[in-house]
Amino acid sequence: MKILVAGKGGVGKTTIAALLSHIFSNHNYKVLALDTDSVPNLAQSLGIPIDKAFKITPLTKNVKLIEERTGAKPGEGWGVLFSLTPKVDDIVEKYGVKVKENLSLVVIGSIDVSKEGCLCPAIALAKAFLRHVFLKRKEVIIVDAEAGAEVFGRGLAEKFDLFLCVTEPTIKSLIISKKLIKMAKELGIKKTILVINKAANTLEAAKNYLKIFPERNVPYHIVRFDPALQEVEMKGLGVTGLSENSTIVHDVSLLFSKISKHAK
Ligand SMILES: Nc1ncnc2c1ncn2[C@@H]1O[C@H](COP(=O)(O)OP(=O)(O)OP(=O)(O)O)[C@@H](O)[C@H]1O
Ligand SMILES: [Mg+2]
Repeated sequence: MKILVAGKGGVGKTTIAALLSHIFSNHNYKVLALDTDSVPNLAQSLGIPIDKAFKITPLTKNVKLIEERTGAKPGEGWGVLFSLTPKVDDIVEKYGVKVKENLSLVVIGSIDVSKEGCLCPAIALAKAFLRHVFLKRKEVIIVDAEAGAEVFGRGLAEKFDLFLCVTEPTIKSLIISKKLIKMAKELGIKKTILVINKAANTLEAAKNYLKIFPERNVPYHIVRFDPALQEVEMKGLGVTGLSENSTIVHDVSLLFSKISKHAK
């Protein structure tokens, strides 16, 4: 199963992606978590110690690897010939980080062409790697996306089985999410769950959902606001620092139960 966790900035994408990755792997699924943020921080959220997390070089910033695999240095600009089919089948094993048994992470970096400037070798490598992962890897794939809509860039959206559109329970955030969901559908994403995160009041959250989605055509799942998250983050810890009894672990475990019914 391939899951895309996306949504607007700061809504809790990385937190949800990290928790789900752990919960899937705790249930004996093999999980490959992928970070495609230009400022990657899924490693910390997964609980990799800060000093180790900072040392991870995203694929799109690994100049040596990019040159070795594509035949061109990033930033060499137009006119340089580079391979659009670089070797990528060893990347998980060589450049992935083992978080724990059954859970690995590859920090890809941004695949946003508008941010990286052009169809440069870095993007070519990242996209080739993603295509390989989607085609060949058998793990549950969980992609923590960069904020916004660029993630649905051509040819990737339809590869996902599930889009978790993370949103806050505010009207503004829900309206943006509705737009993202529409876009994702047009691009061929098969199934969407709206994850209404940071809900201080679940009833109010559900009411707001009905205001913006009166057709009720998108299933939703509420994750409550949990102050414990800030406590662990203040200590520099990831989601592994949360207690099993915390509300966020409980709520994301329920989300896992819904998703895993369809997981391959
Ligand atoms: N359910 C929750 N309860 C309380 N705080 C939360 C919850 N979910 C996320 N947060 C907090 O919100 C902040 C943003 O979370 P996170 O980094 O996961 O968002 P994001 O969508 O990945 O952000 P970005 O767009 O920058 O990648 C963090 O400080 C996180 O601890
Ligand atoms: Mg994030």
